[in-house]
Amino acid sequence: MAFTGSATRGNRWPSTVTALIGGLCAVILLSVSAVAAIYLWPRTPSKSEVVVYLTAPISSLASGQALRFVAPPRQAFVMIDGGGLNAAGKPTGMGWLVNTGSRFEALAADSSDDGCAVTFDAISQRFDDPCHGAAYAIDGHVLRGPATTSLAHLRWRVVAADRIAVEGLVLWAAV
Ligand code: FES
Repeated sequence: MAFTGSATRGNRWPSTVTALIGGLCAVILLSVSAVAAIYLWPRTPSKSEVVVYLTAPISSLASGQALRFVAPPRQAFVMIDGGGLNAAGKPTGMGWLVNTGSRFEALAADSSDDGCAVTFDAISQRFDDPCHGAAYAIDGHVLRGPATTSLAHLRWRVVAADRIAVEGLVLWAAV
């Protein structure tokens, strides 16, 4: 079997090709996985101020009255306190700007009982819960159960006569 050299060289070719194809497949698989990880990995929402256009100027909000506002798409407000189902850091999509008579406050609309969005009764100057009948005063404290803790507060500031900025989150940026 003097002829082994070239025979061994010929036998190596398929294994080399196999190795190359295998390596290529591994590179492709890794690249696809990396791209998938970038798109599928849950993003941490970035904290920011959410600017809201109110339906009326802040100055038009009389004592004992409230103005509802909603977060723009892909954004949410963040509660700064709260009990029951509400808590500091919890996102919410709706709030109320209220004039308590002594100050203006921003409250999250989520009931502390089971998270239903409260509505405002301008005549009785209180928030009512459509789900289980709880009631909250203009400053958010509980008037009637089953809720046991006040509505949560939102951190806000005036931007313009009809615009406020509320501490919130960008849930995901437009691609
Ligand atoms: S969700 Fe508000 S009282 Fe139940």
